[in-house]
Amino acid sequence: MLRLITKYAVAVAALSSLSIASPARLPRAVDVDAFIAAQRPIALQGTLNNIGPNGSLVEGASAGYVVASPSKVNPNYFYTWSRDSALTLKALVDEFILGETSLQQYIEDHVHAQAVLQTVSNPSGTFLPSGKGLGEPKYNVDGTRFNGNWGRPQRDGPALRAIALITYSNWLIANGQTSKAKTVIWPIISNDLSYVGQYWNSTGFDLWEEVSGSSFFTTQAQYRALVEGNTLAEELGVECTGCDQAPQVVCFLQSYWNGEYFVANINTNTIRTGKDANTMLGSISIFDVNASCDSPSIQPCNSRGLSSFKAFVDSFRNASLYPINADIPIDSGIALGRYTEDVYYEGNPWYLITAGAAEYLYDAIAQWKTQEALTIDDTSLAFFQDIYPAARTKTYSSNDTCAEFSHIIDAVHNYADSFVAVVEQYTPANGSLSEQFNKTAPGNPLSAYDLTWSYAAFVTMAERRAGQYPPSWEPSTAVTLPAQCAASSVKGSYVPAFAAGAPNVTASCTSYVQFAVNASTYFGENIYLVGNTTDLGSWDVNNAQPLLASNYTSERPLWYAAIALTAGETIDYGYARQEDCDQPWIFETVNRTLVVPACDETDVEAIRAETNDAWTGPAGSSGGC
Ligand code: NOJ
Ligand code: NOJ
Repeated sequence: MLRLITKYAVAVAALSSLSIASPARLPRAVDVDAFIAAQRPIALQGTLNNIGPNGSLVEGASAGYVVASPSKVNPNYFYTWSRDSALTLKALVDEFILGETSLQQYIEDHVHAQAVLQTVSNPSGTFLPSGKGLGEPKYNVDGTRFNGNWGRPQRDGPALRAIALITYSNWLIANGQTSKAKTVIWPIISNDLSYVGQYWNSTGFDLWEEVSGSSFFTTQAQYRALVEGNTLAEELGVECTGCDQAPQVVCFLQSYWNGEYFVANINTNTIRTGKDANTMLGSISIFDVNASCDSPSIQPCNSRGLSSFKAFVDSFRNASLYPINADIPIDSGIALGRYTEDVYYEGNPWYLITAGAAEYLYDAIAQWKTQEALTIDDTSLAFFQDIYPAARTKTYSSNDTCAEFSHIIDAVHNYADSFVAVVEQYTPANGSLSEQFNKTAPGNPLSAYDLTWSYAAFVTMAERRAGQYPPSWEPSTAVTLPAQCAASSVKGSYVPAFAAGAPNVTASCTSYVQFAVNASTYFGENIYLVGNTTDLGSWDVNNAQPLLASNYTSERPLWYAAIALTAGETIDYGYARQEDCDQPWIFETVNRTLVVPACDETDVEAIRAETNDAWTGPAGSSGGC
C-alpha cells in the first residue's frame, strides 16, 4: 500500500511540475524522456567513434571493423569482437532502416570487412574446409588473427552476424536491390548459416567468454538466424545449407528451462545458479513485435521469459552484494550485472545490461499492445504481482471495460523507465558509457571506457521506448517442435564471399605440429610460442601462441600446444616467458627452425610432427607482487 501511495505522490509531483524532492531512485518519467533525448545521439555517435577507418577514438582500425572499446590497458579491449560487432551492426542497420541514411557507408564497409574476416585462419580453425575458423571470438583491429589465450570457440558470432546481414538484405530487396542481396551479401550469410547448422550442437564458450558448454543466448540467436535465413534463401531462390536444423535448435532451446527460469549455461559443470543476463539479452536480440508470446523462440513477453527475468533481476536485489541497490522497492528497477557470482572487475553492474532490462520490458509491452491482450499464467504471475499487486492469472484484453490491461501496461512501462533512471543516475554528465559502474556509491564508471556495446544497447533501448521496432522475422505459421529433440548436424558449405571482397583462399593444406618444450617455471609464469609467421604472431609476443602446462610435473616441466601450420613452410620460432607482476618478457637466446610436414588430407586433425625442445635462455623469477 505504501508503495502505491509513494508512486501516486511522484505522479502528482510530475504532473504539477512541482520540484518536490522525490527519492532519486524512483521512476521519473519526465527525466527519462529528457535523458533519452540527450543520450540517444551521444550513444549513436559513441558507436561510430569506435569503427574504422575514421572513428575518432580508434585510430588504426581498418574500414568496417568495430572496436570493442578504445581502452588499450586495464582492460585491453582494442580488438574487434565478433559478438560486439554483430550486435552493434544490427543496431546500426535498424537505425539506418529507421531513417539514419548516413549509416549506409558503415554497413557497406562492414560487409566487406566481414567477407574478408571470414577467411582468416585463426586459433579456432580455418575457414576451409571445415568452417571452424568462423567460431573465433576476436581479431586484431586490422582484421588479422589474434593468437592469445581465449575462451574459444564462441558460436554466437556467426548467428548474430547473419541476423544483422539478413536484416540489411531484406531492406535491399524491399528497395529494388535484390541482385545485390543475392550476389554480394548472401554468400557471407550462407557461410555463417552453414556454420550454425553444422556446429549448433557442439559446445563452445558463452557470451561472457568464461564457460564452455551450451549457452541459451547462443542457441536462441542460432535459431533466429536459421529461420530468417531460410525465409531469405527462399526469397532469393538459393539453397540454405544448415537451415533445416532450425526445429532441432528450438527443441534444444526449451531444455534450458529448470521449472523456474532458463538456466544460462547447460552441458557444463559450473556451480552457478544460472540466473544470468544471458537469457534476457538473448530474448531482446530475437525480439519480433509480431511474434506470439507462446512462440518457442522465447520472446520477451513469454511467461517463462518473464519468470527468468524476475529470477535474474531479483538475484541483484541484494544490498550486501550491491550496496547501490539497497532500499529499492520491488516494483522499481535496479543496477544489473552479468550474474551474481561474477568476479570480473569485481562483478559490478553493467550499463548495457541495466539498459537491456528496460529494453526487454518495452519489447514485451509492444507485443501485448500488438496482440491487444496479455495473458498472465502461473509462471508469470509473480513477475506481474511485483509491479501490479492485483494481477491474477487470466487474459486481460485491451477492450475490457475496466481498463486493467492499460493499468498493467503502465505498470510495466514505469518499471522499464525505472531501469533507464538507474542508467541515467550513473551516467557521467558527458554521456560516456563504460562497461561497468561501481556497485558501491557513488557508482563511478569502471572497466573499459566508451564501450561500443554499451552505446549500441542504449540506442536499441531508446528505439523500443520510442515505439520503433526492428523488422519482424518469425513466420506467422507456428513451428512444430519435433516430438523428440535430436543432436543433429549438417555439413556446411563454405565458399569465400568473393563479390563482397573475400580473397581467394583455397582449402589450406595445414599440418598440426605439437610444440613441446621443457621449461621450469614458477607459479604465475607462462610460456608462449612465437615465430616469424602470422600463425605464430610475427615475433610479436602480444600475439604469441599460449602453451599449456596441464602435463607439467617436477620430473618433466612440459609446456605444449598443437598448432596448425601451413604444410611445407619453413618457420623460425622460439619460446618466451611471460613474467608476473608486469615484468618484461624473457626470450630464448637461440633461434629455432622447423619445416612443417606435408599435410594428410584424409586426417586433417592428425599431429604430423612433434618438437622436443628445452628452454635455452635466462630463467624467470617472480616479482613477488
Ligand atoms: C573474464 C571475463 O569475465 C570475460 O568476460 C572476459 O572477456 C575475459 N576474462 C577475457 O579478459
Ligand atoms: C567482455 C564481455 O564479457 C564479452 O561479452 C565482450 O564480448 C567483451 N568483453 C568485449 O566487449
